[in-house]
Amino acid sequence: ATPVTQVTVDTTKPGAPISRQIFGQFAEHLGTGVYGGIWVGKDSPIPNTRGIRNDVVAALKAIKVPNVRWPGGCFADEYHWEKGIGKGPRPVTLNSNWGGVIEPNTFGTDEYMDFLSQIGAASYVSANVGSSTPRETAEWLEYMTSEKETSLAMARRENGHPAPYAVNFLGIGNESWGCGGNMTPEHYADEYRAFSTYAKNYNPEQTGDKRMMKIASGANVDDYNWTETVMKDTQGKEIDGLSLHFYSGFENWPPYQPASGFDETEYAKVIKTALRMDELVTKHSAIMDKYDPQKKVALVVDEWGAWLKNEPGTNPGFLFQQNSQRDAVLAAVTINIFTRHADRVRMANIAQMINVLQAMILTDGDKMVLTPTYHVFKMYVPWQDATFLPVTYDAGTYSHGGVTLPRADIAAAKAKDGKVYVSITNIDPTQPLEVDLDALGLKAKSASGQTLTAPKIDSINTFDKPNTVVPKAISATAEGGKLVLKLAPESVTVVSLD
Ligand code: AHR
Repeated sequence: ATPVTQVTVDTTKPGAPISRQIFGQFAEHLGTGVYGGIWVGKDSPIPNTRGIRNDVVAALKAIKVPNVRWPGGCFADEYHWEKGIGKGPRPVTLNSNWGGVIEPNTFGTDEYMDFLSQIGAASYVSANVGSSTPRETAEWLEYMTSEKETSLAMARRENGHPAPYAVNFLGIGNESWGCGGNMTPEHYADEYRAFSTYAKNYNPEQTGDKRMMKIASGANVDDYNWTETVMKDTQGKEIDGLSLHFYSGFENWPPYQPASGFDETEYAKVIKTALRMDELVTKHSAIMDKYDPQKKVALVVDEWGAWLKNEPGTNPGFLFQQNSQRDAVLAAVTINIFTRHADRVRMANIAQMINVLQAMILTDGDKMVLTPTYHVFKMYVPWQDATFLPVTYDAGTYSHGGVTLPRADIAAAKAKDGKVYVSITNIDPTQPLEVDLDALGLKAKSASGQTLTAPKIDSINTFDKPNTVVPKAISATAEGGKLVLKLAPESVTVVSLD
């Protein structure tokens, strides 16, 4: 018999606001994430606007990307912004982290800002701490944000942008415990304070709520000592966020799980790794609470997602992987975890936006395909700046191959459009799930929305078959005060209540 779970959403007890910034993206100079994925150049036969591909811009606008973290990643701590500006030929450098390939520097600060304005996203710039000085960051900010007639601001004008840019978020270093300089947390905290001192935003419009947020490089997975030390040593020193990086999909390095062509055991193992996000966020938040009980500093999970085996035949340094219905489930349960910690987790960036790791979009020349993860982000658009609502349910468990998981993951929110949205992920890939839904404080008569299902446990979308995993309409009418939804195995469903 189909398992049945009773779900109660309490609309009378709204919780924290769910920042739209948790739906942020990450675009590193890595593989074809930027070159090919975003930038094709003005002379490309691929339709583009000032070198930025139009199909990708249209797809990203549809998911209302709130911010894009750039230029890295590990790349950021070797990046020198001056090499990526100007109308003349730009220096050609090496991308030593990712495949040792040539970095043409044709996509630089002005192209990034143009891309953001085309998709309507905020900027999240990662500054080079590992191999540079506070001066380089200070000058980059002057170039981007000054309205005065300094040489750097004049250079920006000559490069086509008279008005200052908005730098909304500034990351001070990336993985400073690793590729960003192999620092101790004590040393990094000293660097943070020095960089932060000189990291000034001159844009006259960026005051009050619009001021630039400074984000410190945070812990790797469960390095709680990093969080403890950096929080302790940066108090009162202009810190608005502390990052956390956690990739799921593998138990031991290097990542080995195939992105498609896997069985149920591999499905269950990967989802289990992703659910660890809740424990990590809970424990890092508890440490932050000690130093910042008022929760002024956000926990910024600015790298998350499944890191799987690269596709056979591709450059391992390019981190190119397919994206299946399993990734859709993984994305939904992770987003739900963030919403449950919305008071502290106020920003997150999935890694990465295009052609790298758990991507929204895959491209190959002029071809483009939207992944199952993309569809989850689209279904969750109403959750941007919504308000968390508590949900109670007990769906039991699903077990396979020695791994036990919750059978379902359910979250709710009241959106800015005034409607209550419920997201239900049926984690069990073998059985459908019946949900009997009740909303306290709301006499809902019907539910409607979309459900993302797949014919096979590892279904993917390809350039030839782009519509294998796409959302379908779902609706239900209340019976006896309850809404009954029948959901497919391994599915993600988001409905609004009317
Ligand atoms: O997202 C790929 C890499 O993973 C990033 O460059 C780095 O920050 C992390 O280790």
